[in-house]
Amino acid sequence: MPDMRVSFCGVEFPNPTVLASGILGTTAPLLARVAASGIGGVTSKSASPRPRAGHPNPSVLKWGAGFINAVGLANPGIEAQVKILRETRRLMQEQGSPARLIASIFAESVDGFALAAEALSRAEPDFIEVNISCPNVARELGRPFASDPEDTASVTRAVKNATYLPIIVKLSPNVTDIVEIALAAEEAGADAIAAINTVAGMVIDIRARRPVLANLEGGVSGPAIKPIAVRSVYKIYEAVSVPILGIGGISSGEDAVEMMMAGASLVGVGSAAYWLGPDGLGRIRDEMADFMAEEGFASPTEMIGLAHAPTEDEDA
Ligand SMILES: Cc1cc2nc3c(=O)[nH]c(=O)nc-3n(C[C@H](O)[C@H](O)[C@H](O)COP(=O)(O)O)c2cc1C
Repeated sequence: MPDMRVSFCGVEFPNPTVLASGILGTTAPLLARVAASGIGGVTSKSASPRPRAGHPNPSVLKWGAGFINAVGLANPGIEAQVKILRETRRLMQEQGSPARLIASIFAESVDGFALAAEALSRAEPDFIEVNISCPNVARELGRPFASDPEDTASVTRAVKNATYLPIIVKLSPNVTDIVEIALAAEEAGADAIAAINTVAGMVIDIRARRPVLANLEGGVSGPAIKPIAVRSVYKIYEAVSVPILGIGGISSGEDAVEMMMAGASLVGVGSAAYWLGPDGLGRIRDEMADFMAEEGFASPTEMIGLAHAPTEDEDA
């Protein structure tokens, strides 16, 4: 296998694949099990200052080309999450896993984000990921912080001041111009950008004559959103100089390569974890390695942003 290591904000990942937040990232044994699959990093479920029950069922539905969910950020709160993250670290160390640990936070206010970042930093993850982009709590909390450049900057600054760790700010595709939001996050001190969270959507049961999710609307994920994610990453890459964690619709090594060519340094995998299973996520790394061997790439780093290179015609 080629050398699959990548450096992200100066932190070395054994390979560019990362478990996205909210999928299999709810308990320490599950996170450690995914880490053992050969994935490069794992992200925990977003944790908020106080526990949240989330939305009533049905809250997740598989439809033709992916999933729609309105889990509503159910989580046990930061105090419990610090314990989960410490236990995850311990289990990962015990199994000698080189994978990196990313702790995701969510809050209802700027101060809440700072509080969550400060608390989870005590568990010494490698990164704090700042989820300002969940579309499923808008009915309860108003529009996400990631809808507005100034709100994005306020949260980014507050989190940056609250932690010694590098921070990844996770953006929403449900905006007019995601580049404007990415620039606001970068200017406010984000060490990296994650894009994208789920795409706002709805599925209607025509026999029942009403939306399927109890929350009515939800976030669409899986293969259906890959082109939206790839475009977002492509545009952000052209505008910012911080590295990008590209997420959305990735389920194979070739999908991951496409995301890296758009400009991602790391590639997140969410919905595909449902069918690959906790032990199967290493397959994406293996498929990337096969592609690299076929195409003569010595390192995944060589593929980052390659789709932006001028063609020979343009060069001339
Ligand atoms: C059931 C479910 C729960 C999720 N929970 C979170 C979460 O807690 N925090 C977060 O930042 N993103 C969350 N996401 C979004 C994913 O991390 C990811 O950005 C999105 O699903 C797109 O990637 P995918 O197409 O590979 O699933 C969730 C997604 C799903 C499907």
